[in-house]
Amino acid sequence: MAPLAKLYVEFLRAEALEVVHCTCGGEALDAAAASPPDAVILDLKLPDMDGLEVLRALHARDPSVSVVVITAHGSIDLAVEAMRLGAFDFIVKPFNADRLNLTLRNALERRTLARMVEGYRKDLDRGRFHGFIGNSPEMQAVYRTIESVAASRANVFITGESGTGKEVAAQAIHRASPRRGGAFVALNCAAIPKDLLESEIFGHVKGAFTGATGDRPGAALQADGGTLFLDEICEMPFDLQSKLLRFVQTGTVNPVGSGREQRVDVRFVAATNRDPLAEVQAGRFREDLYYRLHVIPLALPPLRERGGDVIEIARSFLADYAREEGKALAAFAPEVEARLRAHDWPGNVRQLQNVVRNVVVLNDGPQVTLDMLPQMAGLEGGAALCDAPCAACDSPAADMQEEDGVVQPLWQVERDMIRKALRLADGDVPRAALMLEISPSTIYRKLQQWRAVERRDAGEAAA
Ligand SMILES: Nc1ncnc2c1ncn2[C@@H]1O[C@H](COP(=O)(O)OP(=O)(O)OP(=O)(O)O)[C@@H](O)[C@H]1O
Ligand SMILES: [Mg+2]
Repeated sequence: MAPLAKLYVEFLRAEALEVVHCTCGGEALDAAAASPPDAVILDLKLPDMDGLEVLRALHARDPSVSVVVITAHGSIDLAVEAMRLGAFDFIVKPFNADRLNLTLRNALERRTLARMVEGYRKDLDRGRFHGFIGNSPEMQAVYRTIESVAASRANVFITGESGTGKEVAAQAIHRASPRRGGAFVALNCAAIPKDLLESEIFGHVKGAFTGATGDRPGAALQADGGTLFLDEICEMPFDLQSKLLRFVQTGTVNPVGSGREQRVDVRFVAATNRDPLAEVQAGRFREDLYYRLHVIPLALPPLRERGGDVIEIARSFLADYAREEGKALAAFAPEVEARLRAHDWPGNVRQLQNVVRNVVVLNDGPQVTLDMLPQMAGLEGGAALCDAPCAACDSPAADMQEEDGVVQPLWQVERDMIRKALRLADGDVPRAALMLEISPSTIYRKLQQWRAVERRDAGEAAA
């Protein structure tokens, strides 16, 4: 071994690094192929080949390897050329142990960072991100936004149709943030009765109102140090919006019935499936509150715009539900996948979830075939159903039944009421479900049943 090389190897071994010394370019390439190095110190002057050729070959094999080149005094041009070809750094002979050590440490650190980035990218390519499935470019953009806002305290405003994953996004922001050790508190402004909402958010003290038998912390206090998710924010009553604005601006809350302000440290994430600006323009949502909360907008794309994600998500649900239900269903037939892909999915991921659950509960076999699918047309929201003339929606006949001494069958009352709710909710199933105080899947299930009955009746009439 050349005396200088021997010295370098000794320096580096003293630093607890595993060092392989090669005497020529060919030997170095063989060694790199046998056991890929994290970093390479490469003298450009080699007995058997051009040092730059070795650099090229090393990079062709592993673009993230950090190569430090050694040049002689006076051949800086060569060093510049090496940098252009992707060398990490260069050192000019002669150099001391500290210089070598520092340069190599930097090279190794860059390599570690490159590996981390590669790992994150792989995570994204795998199409999984904090509870989300899907690697469409549209969702990659969502993941990137979440990652870049997570570290800050900026308030995030999530929009997206029903079932697109707004709550999943809010949780992802919390989990990717430094506040993950604190609580994630979700408050659904549409599900809580108006007169209770204030105390749900800000808490109350004993005796604040009838039934307030003790002090109770609100969502704001529970989320101290964490994230407060204000779901369906556009449903918040107008007068309460001013109190929320004060909280967002000052970071202090005033529990109902208490004269004392309390300081809390929360990050706000708000969500709605409405168009918030239209709500502002219509005078239903305070503009000043909108701008306070709408610092970082995050729009979730509808499922129909996510390409192959629908299949990826459906496969994952199929595997989960088949396991849960003890069924053998392991795959979708190709024509089923084509049908899933072509569907419009007005209820987005939640609707897909219901369809797959329905298939798994009602069927078994090695694969999901077309006949197992619930009537997809029946899932195209409630609007289509209500296009048909509907007595319960259009006439007061139902109210007059008692006077007439006529009683409708319960299933008919139920169907008419669901249709009415869907009409009032513009075909938005989760919203209709909220009005009826039932789960959206109940509505989807009913829609399927009615479709099946209609199909059967149509078949009988034709026969
Ligand atoms: N990309 C996704 N991958 C896997 N599961 C998802 C995805 N997006 C949503 N989900 C699931 O779909 C369901 C609906 O998601 P979520 O409740 O977050 O939607 P939402 O936008 O808040 O709906 P809504 O407007 O009706 O409240 C949940 O069970 C969620 O776990
Ligand atoms: Mg939601």
